[in-house]
Amino acid sequence: MYNQLERILFSKEQLEKRVKELGATLSNDYKDKNPLLICILKGSTLFYADLVRAMDIHLNFDFMAVSSYGAETRSSGEVKMIKDLDCSIADRHVIIVEDIVDTGFTLKYLTKLLCARKPASLKICTLLNKPSRREVDLTPDYVGFEVGNHFVVGYGLDYDEKFRNLPEIGVLKEEVYK
Ligand code: PRP
Repeated sequence: MYNQLERILFSKEQLEKRVKELGATLSNDYKDKNPLLICILKGSTLFYADLVRAMDIHLNFDFMAVSSYGAETRSSGEVKMIKDLDCSIADRHVIIVEDIVDTGFTLKYLTKLLCARKPASLKICTLLNKPSRREVDLTPDYVGFEVGNHFVVGYGLDYDEKFRNLPEIGVLKEEVYK
């Protein structure tokens, strides 16, 4: 895997440190609120697993899967639901946990959908934020790292369903995806 990377962007230690900081911030902000943390499959899984273990307050798990209709329609912002939540979010303090906000279409779709279910509050926590690619007005509430316009993989993020198991986040060599 490593020979297909141009470089490592975030080491295991950098990720661990930042995720612990985010967990401490969320624990403080959501003390006594029993928040519901929604993991957006599949990219967020490793971040989610580490983030919840960095939080020392009561919280609940739920999972959602969404996907764009395809490469050509992605720019139109069409997103489809693959798996909905198991529980109701009415009157709950909800945190959407994402690995990356890129164009913002996925989060725009999700926030609109979930807001209609009348949660007590709804915030977005993303490990990576790529503002240079944004196509809609969307600002995440909690951000691990800002990244430039690189093709990043690892720690849950994939290229062609591969590299998700990489413990670091790396920049993919251009020759791999071009
Ligand atoms: C990725 C990522 C976000 C979305 C962000 O998911 O996990 O959900 O893209 O992109 P956007 O801001 O341009 O909408 P992807 O559809 O690749 O699925 P995955 O999580 O299963 O890898």
